[in-house]
Amino acid sequence: MTVPRHIAIIMDGNGRWARERNLPRIKGHEQGAESVRAVTEACVELGVEFLTVYAFSTENWKRPAAEVAALFVLLEHFIAQELPTLMKNNVRLAAIGRLHELPDTCQRALAEAIAQTAANTATTLILALNYSGRAEIIDAVQALCADAAAGTLGDIDQDAISARLYTAPYPDPDLLIRTSGEMRLSNFLLWQLSYTEIHVTEKLWPDFGKDDLRAAIAEFNKRQRRYGGL
Ligand code: IPE
Ligand code: IPE
Ligand code: MG
Repeated sequence: MTVPRHIAIIMDGNGRWARERNLPRIKGHEQGAESVRAVTEACVELGVEFLTVYAFSTENWKRPAAEVAALFVLLEHFIAQELPTLMKNNVRLAAIGRLHELPDTCQRALAEAIAQTAANTATTLILALNYSGRAEIIDAVQALCADAAAGTLGDIDQDAISARLYTAPYPDPDLLIRTSGEMRLSNFLLWQLSYTEIHVTEKLWPDFGKDDLRAAIAEFNKRQRRYGGL
């Protein structure tokens, strides 16, 4: 079996999970954090090198302020609570997105956890926070223009663009998983997903566990990746 080097996940359906149980939406997000824990552990066990999870999009600011605030409180709790487990499991934490626009306390917690786990060598868990593919491309174009103005810009080729994305240190995802059945990208990794295999499951994110990840990888193994060739 081929284990994907990089798995990206659009973690969707927390709200629906809560609604089905007559619970407030934040309870769905809390349960969703448990799925992040389980799936990260499964990635360590399977030898997946990179796991990128879409936790908050630049469009998610449109949600009610109370939900947005609760999500950031949850994020801080998650980081604090998970840090010992990340260390025990040798997981390196990273983040992509317009991180400077996150609440200060979140930025600090994130920066600390990233620094503490920097030397870990098993799976790299990459949180996409205040992330969108278009914002990332805009930021990359701005970086290109700055280099042009400074007279340091070489050829504008694929590598020149990839090198200026938040994901520059990571390979493109091999497998994209979206939970809750929606067939769209919702502004996730627009450049990087060009040749990624897509797996959509009806399962809601809080119900997604290690077995579901293994099933997605098994399905991935049946795909023939052609990259435009034969
Ligand atoms: C995904 O679950 C989590 C975030 C976007 C933060 P949703 O909150 O989008 O759940 P649904 O789509 O309303 O069920
Ligand atoms: C995508 O889910 C963003 C995250 C999982 C963070 P959304 O629930 O925001 O996406 P749409 O609105 O259904 O496209
Ligand atoms: Mg959703």
